[in-house]
Amino acid sequence: MAKSQPRRFCFCIVALVCTVVIICICIIFATKQRCAFTHAAVSADSLMCSDIGRDMLLEGGSAVDAAIAALLCTGLVNPQSMGLGGGSIFTIMDKTGKVKIISSRETVPKGVQADLLNKCPKTTPFAIGSHWIGVPGELRGYEKAHQLYGKLPWAKLFEPSIKLAREGFLMPAYLAYFLQQTIIKKLMNGTELRELFYKDKTVLNPRDTLKFPQLAETMETIAKEGAGAFYTGKIANDLTQDVQERNGVLSLEDLSSFQVRVSDAWSVEIGEYTMHFPPPPAGGAILGFILKLMHGFGLSPASIQGDQKTLTLHRFLETVKFANGQKRNLKDPYFNSRDMEYIKDEKFIEHIRALITDSSTHNASYYNITPSVDRFGTTHVSVMTADGTAVSVTSTINQIFGSTVYSPKTGIFLNNELADFCGRAVSVAPGEQPPSSMAPTILQSQEKTLVIGGSGGSYITTAMALSIMNHLWFGMNLTESIAAKIVFVDSSNNVQFEDGYDESDIKAMKKLQHTVTKSKYPFLNVVNGISKGRQCISAVSDARKLGKSAGY
Ligand SMILES: *[C@@H]1O[C@H](CO)[C@@H](O)[C@H](O)[C@H]1NC(C)=O
Ligand SMILES: *[C@@H]1O[C@H](CO)[C@@H](O)[C@H](O)[C@H]1NC(C)=O
Ligand SMILES: *[C@@H]1O[C@H](CO)[C@@H](O)[C@H](O)[C@H]1NC(C)=O
Repeated sequence: MAKSQPRRFCFCIVALVCTVVIICICIIFATKQRCAFTHAAVSADSLMCSDIGRDMLLEGGSAVDAAIAALLCTGLVNPQSMGLGGGSIFTIMDKTGKVKIISSRETVPKGVQADLLNKCPKTTPFAIGSHWIGVPGELRGYEKAHQLYGKLPWAKLFEPSIKLAREGFLMPAYLAYFLQQTIIKKLMNGTELRELFYKDKTVLNPRDTLKFPQLAETMETIAKEGAGAFYTGKIANDLTQDVQERNGVLSLEDLSSFQVRVSDAWSVEIGEYTMHFPPPPAGGAILGFILKLMHGFGLSPASIQGDQKTLTLHRFLETVKFANGQKRNLKDPYFNSRDMEYIKDEKFIEHIRALITDSSTHNASYYNITPSVDRFGTTHVSVMTADGTAVSVTSTINQIFGSTVYSPKTGIFLNNELADFCGRAVSVAPGEQPPSSMAPTILQSQEKTLVIGGSGGSYITTAMALSIMNHLWFGMNLTESIAAKIVFVDSSNNVQFEDGYDESDIKAMKKLQHTVTKSKYPFLNVVNGISKGRQCISAVSDARKLGKSAGY
């Protein structure tokens, strides 16, 4: 008797422990089943690059390490969008919640043509030629981000991309599709780019191998010697020589004097969320304005049901028109005295909200619009890790293949970032950063963190605004939010709907006198985002660019 009691007690303890363990396993299993990822995720433009970012995390890398590795890869998979010849903006939240911005957006070179802005394209969206090349900042941005937040050795981040560039990889399906478009074929015609992507007279197809041998050499040198090799070493010599032979003005002095900018983020409160984004001349201020203004209308899933749906869409279009009117104030604060702080101001936003009329639309002057040319290009990478750090980084060479100038000695594609001044400035100064739509953003509340960004030039603003509203307020999951068809308001306030947009909405907008036009160009909007709730992480790369995320 005295013996069996402790035994029974032991049995009970064992049974209890077993039950607890089983319950725990069930909970973990159920969570895993429901969650795409539970620790960390990377959303880049392609699965290959998302995977490379995820592998960096698994090897002990930080979110910044993952982002840099994914960007280096994206420069190979989507070389029309970004690369070492461009610039980028990082929004980085560390695990304490502090948010920093690292901007390595291109700047105006010293020898810039005095009459550059007279050459702004008027009838086509493309600014082609070496006179549009800004001083590439991309690598100085990676270098600074890695100095401040990196864990893995610098060279390690380059390894997978060097291998891909050297040994080749299957022609990415999106790139093959894209290069087949008539407008892109025309753009490529007669450029040195053609040789890279064509076999005989036809575009490489997805069964062909794509290689970038010169770029592999360049990346190898940078991996070994650091970013300095690009800005002062042999690569700098080769690159400036190539550009100058193609009538460009990029000089060794421009490269060696390039300065990356580190600053605090701009933050605004929107409902229960704090939104963090880069200050002007990046586009976050415009996006924040749109979201804050729209939020004030009281958004909920009901806002996109029944009669409310038309009203919400109309208010959104009107808001975007006012936002377009603000774009010309988006200027480099280092070079222009007028600051843009007012755009975050509650009073200002209320004032504009009161100007929106629910039953009518207005002519351009009502919104303070000065027409400019719309543009497209760019890529975005979002990363979130287990310790709560998050990186939202947008990178670009501006338009499709930038200036279309290629440096054969280095394998680098050169940006046409200076074209971003067109319609927005009357003069430019050496060192100045052009305005941008780029808005790598982090939104945070007690319940949720959303790391999000977009590409597609002028399309970034509406595509991001819609994805964010869909997810935070209209009750859609992240996949639906990003997949939902978008509407774009061009710089002349014409409203353009993505193919497949609900016809009844389009009719309703025409009835309200919006000028609805058909886009001459394919919609190139792409949003990549990661949303983290209490347990789960969902990561979405836009299916429009055939993207896929990775995580664990
Ligand atoms: C490419 O340019 C050549 C010569 O300028 C022209 O004959 C040809 O039609 C162009 N091809 C395309 C696809 O535009
Ligand atoms: C725009 O509308 C305002 C007021 O409604 C009017 O005074 C102005 O003449 C209009 N401008 C144009 C160009 O139609
Ligand atoms: C998102 O919502 C759609 C439509 O309701 C659903 O089919 C899909 O499974 C959801 N995705 C996730 C990851 O929950």
